[in-house]
Amino acid sequence: MPLLTFKRKDMNKKNIVAGNWKMNLGPKAAIELAQSLKEPAASCQKTEVWVAPAFPSLSNVIKTAAGSTLKVGAQNVHWEEKGAFTGEASVSMLKELGCNFAIVGHSERRHIFGESDEMVSKRCLAALNSGLPVILCIGETLAQREASETTSVLIKQLEAVTNSVNAELSKLLTIAYEPVWAIGTGKVASIDEIADAHDSIDKYWQSVHGDNTPPILYGGSVSPDNFAEIIKVDRVSGALVGGASLSTEKFSKLIAISEEC
Ligand code: PGA
Repeated sequence: MPLLTFKRKDMNKKNIVAGNWKMNLGPKAAIELAQSLKEPAASCQKTEVWVAPAFPSLSNVIKTAAGSTLKVGAQNVHWEEKGAFTGEASVSMLKELGCNFAIVGHSERRHIFGESDEMVSKRCLAALNSGLPVILCIGETLAQREASETTSVLIKQLEAVTNSVNAELSKLLTIAYEPVWAIGTGKVASIDEIADAHDSIDKYWQSVHGDNTPPILYGGSVSPDNFAEIIKVDRVSGALVGGASLSTEKFSKLIAISEEC
């Protein structure tokens, strides 16, 4: 008798293909890209399509996506309601604008702008506590991987946030595993590395919270050439995509691959 493969990811849930546009595309170009994604997003049965434009383009993209299935979010969010925090935006501002989610803890925020686990946790909890869904990014550097610290780093980054997340709030959470060394470098983690990391995240979550691990996306040089293999991995529920999300053609291919898997 053939062995049955037990899939941990919830096959009743849709995959998420999320584009992080980073500091690219001003309002005009962002509207054009969003417009071109409405149709591929609308024909999806198994995939949610999310995009995160830069702050100046957010309002235009939200208007462009209105009435479509495209979800639009911010690339970061602050934990305070208002005040002297130059360069930041609060949860209520993003909600008023019509944001569907916010990304927090992206490795560029952690490593270029020095955001600590504590800051990421405050951002994440402020959003979740106000009902704004979050993509929480975690991931190890190359030095940490080479020192066999990957699992402990991932757990430390998760622990900083998830100790305060109850079952209700965790429904608003999506985790993105993004090895720092794979982001924007063209170096994709191997299928085994992705599977091991997603497995560790899932096991940790289950040991602390029980069996309802949030969807876990993979991120780091995802492209139409590698996504078909990645999306088949147990516990991979989609992708957080940088470079390839800036092209209608490439991003639409990723959506199509998710639909076919
Ligand atoms: P990349 O970026 O796809 O360009 O590697 C991924 C990310 O930063 O989320």
